[in-house]
Order: sequence, then structure tokens, then C-alpha cells
Amino acid sequence: MASNLWTLCLSFLLLASGAMSATPRKAIDVPFGRNYIPTWALDHIKYFNGGSEIQLSLDKFTGTGFQSKGSYLFGHFSMQIKMVPGDSAGTVTAFYLSSQNSEHDEMDFEFLGNRTRQPYILQTNVFSGGKGNREQRIYLWFDPTKAYHTYSVLWNLYQIVFFVDDVPIRVFKNNKDLGVRFPFNQPMKIYSSLWNADDWATRGGLEKTDWSKAPFVASYKSFHIDACEVSVNARFCQTQGKRWWDQKEFQDLDAFQYRRLSWVRHRYTIYNYCTDRVRFPSLPPECKRDRDV
Ligand SMILES: *[C@@H]1O[C@H](CO)[C@@H](O)[C@H](O)[C@H]1NC(C)=O
Repeated sequence: MASNLWTLCLSFLLLASGAMSATPRKAIDVPFGRNYIPTWALDHIKYFNGGSEIQLSLDKFTGTGFQSKGSYLFGHFSMQIKMVPGDSAGTVTAFYLSSQNSEHDEMDFEFLGNRTRQPYILQTNVFSGGKGNREQRIYLWFDPTKAYHTYSVLWNLYQIVFFVDDVPIRVFKNNKDLGVRFPFNQPMKIYSSLWNADDWATRGGLEKTDWSKAPFVASYKSFHIDACEVSVNARFCQTQGKRWWDQKEFQDLDAFQYRRLSWVRHRYTIYNYCTDRVRFPSLPPECKRDRDV
């Protein structure tokens, strides 16, 4: 009985904390084929459990990749990924949203592989109107090759948030008032790929891909998209302002999320363009607010 009561209390606490913290909903097991199609090197993608799980493989000849069927303006996009295990030096596994036009908008997760037991780096970037150069790099607080973890992007008119599991690791606010273009009118597709980038990825290109270890394999599942689907040419979303991600609790991080973001900042950051005074002698405008975190 006592344990029942305890379970009840615990579930209440969990529910309450879930309600207080505006974390986007958990992805359910969405199969690959519902939202995605392979883009290139189709024979380098393998399907398991009726397509609910897939593996991308990279060898000396080619990497591979896939993309969303639809184009989207705002929403929540997530994927569970298990990175290339063992010696993954020189490889890059990417998950990104991009409008792929000349003045493109884009948000990137790039996972830079490493030698066996050496840490991966997660690099993120945001492009708006074709302008990027907003790299941030962190180490993860777990080994991303051991189990699946959820990587997601929340995008609304107020902010773009990068999450690792439930932890916000980066926020790009709408700083239109500071003269910074915010992605709002160019539909994006979601892309993922695994390729060789040993000219820059690992220790700045010093560590080369060891092809005797090929094929390199990354695993994926839960291909969740909850977003406003529009045509590639659409400039606005019909349901703008009405969906869950537009609501008040998703317009800014809450105190708990800011604490977690600041924990990532202080414990795991390797590089932040906002503090790179050599590259940017005058601070990029959006970084003025970035400092407050
Ligand atoms: C790889 O490991 C080295 C040595 O621990 C580390 O300096 C580097 O940041 C790691 N990650 C990448 C992607 O280079």
C-alpha cells in the first residue's frame, strides 16, 4: 500500500513537473517511410522492423542520406540516433533543416566522429538569409554511440531551440529588432546524412578516416515531425499562431530549461562563435542577448 501511495505521489510530481516545463511532446515510434525518403546511394540504407529503424552506412565509395517528403514552416522535428560506434574518426553524421535556396535558412546538428573512446563533438549552426558562421561546439554528457538519444528542433516565430533528449543545448531567438534575420518565410525540409569529412571533422582534420574499419554505421528511429506542412513556394503557414508550438509556454525557455542550458554552456562548451573575438572583433548582434544565459 505504502508503495502504491509512493507511486501515486511520484507520478503526480512527474506530471506536475512535465506540465511546468514546456518540453515538446515525446516522439512516438514513427516509421521512416511516413515522413522520409532516401536521397542518394539508396543501397547504403538498410531497413529493420518494417522500417521503424534504419541504418546508414559509409564506405570508401560513398556515404548516404535521406530527406523529408514535405516542406515545413515551423514545428517540432525529432529523431533518435545512435552514432557510428568504435573508430568513427573523420565521419560526420548530420541532421538538419534547410530551405536550400540561394539565401537559405538552415539549422544544423553535426556529429563529428572520433577515434575509439575519444569524445564526439556536436556542432550546431544557424543560417538565416544565407548567412551562417554561427558555429557552436559541445561535448555530450553521454556516449552517443552506446544507445539511442533524441535530437530535436523546435521552431516557431519566437525562437529556434536545439534539444538533446530534453535538454536545450542552444537557443536562437528572433532578434529581428536587432536587425538579425530570423527564418520565418522559407519552408524547410529535413535532411540527414552520413559522409566522410576527414579533411576537417576530427581534431581539425588531423585524424583521418581509417577505411579498414569500414563500413561505418549510424542507426536511426522515431522519425517524428509535428509541423505546418506547406508547398516549397509557400510563404506562410495557414495555421500560424494556432498550433501548440506557437503558444506562450513555447515562446521562451522556462527557468528550469535556462538552468539546463546554462549547465551545458558551462560544462560542455568547446567553442561558441559569440565569444570568438578573433573571428568577430565586433560582436554579432544576436550575441548581445546570448551572453545573458
Ligand atoms: C577527439 O578526441 C580528441 C582527443 O581527446 C579531442 O581533442 C577532440 O575534441 C575530439 N573530437 C573531435 C571531433 O575532434
